[in-house]
Amino acid sequence: MRSVALLPVLATLPWLGTSTPTPTESDRPSKRASVPTVTVSGNAFWQGKDRFYVRGVDYQPGGSSAMQDPLADKVICQRDITQFKKLGINTVRVYITDNSANHDDCMNGLADAGIYVIIDANNPRYSINRYDPAQSYNAQYLQSVFATIDAFIKYDNTLAFFSGNEVVNDNITSTLSARYVKAVTRDMRQYIGNRGYRKVPVGYSAADVSQNRMQMAQYMNCGSDDERSDFFAFNDYSWCNSNFITAGWDQKVKNFTGYGLPIFLSEYGCVTNGRDFGEIAALMSSKMTHVYSGGLMYEYAMEENGYGIAKIPGAKSPSITEEEGFSKFASALAENPAPKGDGGFTSTTHSLPCPTKDADWMVSTDKLPAIPANARVFMTNGAGAGPGLGGEGSQNAGGSDDDDTSSGDAEQGSGIVTASPSASSSKSSATPTNPNAGNAGKVPLMFTALVVIMVFAAML
Ligand SMILES: *[C@@H]1O[C@H](CO)[C@@H](O)[C@H](O)[C@H]1NC(C)=O
Ligand SMILES: *[C@@H]1O[C@H](CO)[C@@H](O)[C@H](O)[C@H]1NC(C)=O
Repeated sequence: MRSVALLPVLATLPWLGTSTPTPTESDRPSKRASVPTVTVSGNAFWQGKDRFYVRGVDYQPGGSSAMQDPLADKVICQRDITQFKKLGINTVRVYITDNSANHDDCMNGLADAGIYVIIDANNPRYSINRYDPAQSYNAQYLQSVFATIDAFIKYDNTLAFFSGNEVVNDNITSTLSARYVKAVTRDMRQYIGNRGYRKVPVGYSAADVSQNRMQMAQYMNCGSDDERSDFFAFNDYSWCNSNFITAGWDQKVKNFTGYGLPIFLSEYGCVTNGRDFGEIAALMSSKMTHVYSGGLMYEYAMEENGYGIAKIPGAKSPSITEEEGFSKFASALAENPAPKGDGGFTSTTHSLPCPTKDADWMVSTDKLPAIPANARVFMTNGAGAGPGLGGEGSQNAGGSDDDDTSSGDAEQGSGIVTASPSASSSKSSATPTNPNAGNAGKVPLMFTALVVIMVFAAML
């Protein structure tokens, strides 16, 4: 959620015209469905040949403390789908889902209402620890992430997956976790490809932190294609009942022009000065549509922090009470429909240079950690049964077995380990050419040690 920006952004962004554009083609929906699947082409989302703009809400009744999957209970979701139809939204984002539960009723109910879903692949128990990313990037975590993909990718109205939510925050130490967030993004995209699934886009949802927002965006779109995201999203609470210029959104358009991937706001909706949801008029206007693809209003359910538009008396209450913001939000959507035409999108995508280490950004290498050896097997065998929302979670699970955590840096384009000869020749970690490839990074070290010992022995 919200973070307070403390420092000015110091980085400059030399990303305009810096790399060769790669033309992309739209993936056409492959089968008849209740809703057409949404695809990515150029810097935009598409529903068939029409541009698709995210016009939605963040949806997590009970907040993160309730640890409740609203898509696993049809009493809950059907109550809220009725309200979503009144609002006229086309997307909900759900932060916490139970990958051991069945979601057919809720996902089909949403599809019947023409509503798409963006799923966070992590949850409070299964997530990267921003201050201990190496230990928390483990096989147990990836198993949960992949099981979440398995649980939702079969629905045509699954719009996208978030590979992480606000892992990097306003504490500079947390920027070191960006490598692990990016590795998870790479692994999710690779899992989707290796399992032969529909290419549901994967991207990261960044915190509203001005001092590293641009670096984070740049970082998620730098390097080889297998390491780049499909889109980028960030949270923005700067529009406090103001306007395009006062909120600084003109600068956010300027700074992200030429970014090379679709972008949308994963949370917006400042509550200071009251709310008119003027953000929607801006997002749907030609001032923004060439760069941005809409956004998600934070949030549907009223919680203690006061951002909600629907008061829900109890978890399973059959009805809600509309807060003042409910009708204002519905009106703002109705008055500002998605524009016709292509919105001035860019038909090509391209990568950016990786950000350099500086006073706000601690990452000093472009290399990503290799997938843990014990997680590689999921690429070929699938993730198996998801752990759900119970249990110990994954953050401290990587301690007992070395193969649960990453053994070294990955080679770009491989998803495996730099020093492995078999890894460097294989494009995909799904090819089980060498089941021990995950450990191969350790071999040259042992070999070097042996040589050193032999040289010493020869000298004596
Ligand atoms: C835009 O980029 C400039 C230069 O990097 C930076 O100083 C400024 O803070 C950025 N503004 C926003 C709103 O991101
Ligand atoms: C940043 O996080 C580290 C690790 O938790 C902590 O030691 C440090 O005090 C934090 N810094 C700030 C400015 O909060």
